[in-house]
Amino acid sequence: MSKSIARMTIDPQYQLADVDPRLFGSFIEHLGRAVYGGIYEPDHPSADEMGFRQDVLELVRELQVPIVRYPGGNFVSGYRWEDGVGPLASRPAQLDLAWRSLEPNRVGVNEFVEWAKRANSEVMMAVNLGTRGIDEAKQIVEYCNHPGGSYWSDLRKSHGYEQPHGIKVWCLGNEMDGPWQIGHKTADEYGRIAEEAAKVMKWVDPSIELVACGSSGSKMPTFPDWERIVLEHTYDHVEYISMHSYYGNRENDLATYLAQSLDMDHFIRSVIATCDYVKAKKRSKKTINISFDEWNVWFHSNDADKQVAPWQVGPPLLEDVYTFEDALVVGCLLITLLRHADRVKMACLAQLVNVIAPIMTENGGVSWKQTIYYPFLHASRYGRGKVMHCSLQSPKYDCKEFTDVPLVESVAVWNQDIAELTIFAVNRSQDGGIELECDIRGFAQASVIEHTVLVHSDLKAANTKEEPQEVIPQHAQGAKVDGGLLFAPLPKLSWNVIRLRVEP
Ligand code: AHR
Repeated sequence: MSKSIARMTIDPQYQLADVDPRLFGSFIEHLGRAVYGGIYEPDHPSADEMGFRQDVLELVRELQVPIVRYPGGNFVSGYRWEDGVGPLASRPAQLDLAWRSLEPNRVGVNEFVEWAKRANSEVMMAVNLGTRGIDEAKQIVEYCNHPGGSYWSDLRKSHGYEQPHGIKVWCLGNEMDGPWQIGHKTADEYGRIAEEAAKVMKWVDPSIELVACGSSGSKMPTFPDWERIVLEHTYDHVEYISMHSYYGNRENDLATYLAQSLDMDHFIRSVIATCDYVKAKKRSKKTINISFDEWNVWFHSNDADKQVAPWQVGPPLLEDVYTFEDALVVGCLLITLLRHADRVKMACLAQLVNVIAPIMTENGGVSWKQTIYYPFLHASRYGRGKVMHCSLQSPKYDCKEFTDVPLVESVAVWNQDIAELTIFAVNRSQDGGIELECDIRGFAQASVIEHTVLVHSDLKAANTKEEPQEVIPQHAQGAKVDGGLLFAPLPKLSWNVIRLRVEP
């Protein structure tokens, strides 16, 4: 049988876009054990003086997450942020109707801003446009960002935060197209309130950037009219439209599962087209970009969640245990996001700790890295720089939901500051290894620094508290540059990171 080859050309002249570091954002919602038992556990042996788990902070810092969305998610649509500021003794416990949990309000805006500082991250703050509206949106911006001399900014100071938090990115609600959302709205209803909230928020602080809610998934019956109508209302007042998408392997059909990044790709293209349609209609010079602020694999925990008793603080909800095959899918999704770096400026892996998360913890005990931690880590660490136009020719396959699925999914990022070119590649083949042959003759010099691979003989292998190192990256052998061509063997079903030292 002849060797299977995927061919790619990368030329320093052909660059797509600078990667906005915020493409490697994540998300902490008041949901399950993300906050209580995740980032915050005052009784934990590693807790700092504010009750934040140091073991978790170390793992988050390792991931280099530049921005973290907060406090939801569905949670935000019923949230009263004032309940989470000021003296702990006077903070009320509230029923969170989104997740049928008890919210003790031990962590609120100020604590989260402190946590984010310790994580070397910025906060992407969402406002409640479900049960609340313009006034509350104005007040929280004033509380967080106004220097002082007004009621809400002085209240912040009285709570011990003399300096404004300077939160730059704000989400205008969450998934307002979804009937499950508290305060669900039609596109016109949402578009109007988002426009008016946006106006006053920017009157309080003109330096902020705003994200309008897009559809909560490409399968929503209102997609893409939702985006069109919402943008017709908000176009002049926002910088981004949000996208959300979750994937799963419910039918245990690997070929289709591995191809689901094609759905993400199609979804992104459709949202870009809709944004640009509204741009044309408005004769606008402004371009709306995308904040893909919820994406991940989410399906393992669906059944278990139905058994969780309501009204607990920090219940074990959405605790997907990720397998090796999930890591391959997350790798494909990361490659897809990078390939759209010209329009997708922010993205949030949903979520960060315990809740559909790369990081898991045991209450009072250890923390560990799920399989999906690794592709995210690699992309975040080595995917900074310029995304290159890559012409990729790969053998293809057909499956239940998709045709012409490339067996190799790949993208390259050139970091000129450190003279590194990194190629990310997933080999989707269930049959065997594929040789990646990459023409890099446009670079005067190139040599392989390292080829890292995530591969496992068991697709369902997972990292657990007992076996935290079951699926971990390894050094691969055999990648070489010869005559301006890179030859890299991509093992069957693998995530690959090939780092090259390059001179243009
Ligand atoms: O990330 C979990 C949930 O998924 C979020 O709360 C919601 O926005 C989405 O439906």
